[in-house]
Amino acid sequence: MTRKKLSIEYEEFTSLEQMSAADRELACLALEAQAGSYSPYSNFQVGAALRLEDGTVIKGANQENVAYPAGLCAERTALFAAGANYPDLAPEALAIAGSDHGVLCESPVSPCGSCRQVMAEYQKKHGKYLKIILVGSKRIRVFQRVEDLLPFIFDSLKIGQ
Ligand code: THU
Repeated sequence: MTRKKLSIEYEEFTSLEQMSAADRELACLALEAQAGSYSPYSNFQVGAALRLEDGTVIKGANQENVAYPAGLCAERTALFAAGANYPDLAPEALAIAGSDHGVLCESPVSPCGSCRQVMAEYQKKHGKYLKIILVGSKRIRVFQRVEDLLPFIFDSLKIGQ
């Protein structure tokens, strides 16, 4: 038996000003995108902004439903809209911001497992790392690739390796 350890790397910023202009802009668009949230059941507004390789930005926001499972997270609304409308453009960065009853969370919202799996799929489809930017009012976390949020990603082609 060998005991192994996995470590992940991410950057943490305490304000948007410390970030690169492109990432700051995307983070601001994720904050803006919260306006599109339809969340009468949770009162939790999540916005997402996805930048594609040509600079196009697709916004998303969580959409809820009285039949709960029919709703969708902000991240997937943006990723699926990009997949449907710009199938040949690789997504390069995804910023996410979440507010509880209209107040931006101090620590950033971290995407659910299903959204991470969907991110992994598009990263694999295009063969290009997807950067993930999690925006909170006191902390902003930046992950350079989906693996850093989803270790041991399921990939049917790699089973047994
Ligand atoms: N939600 C997102 O949109 N993204 C996340 O990363 C976490 C959760 C939504 C789902 C639901 O509409 C609400 O937030 C409360 O869970």
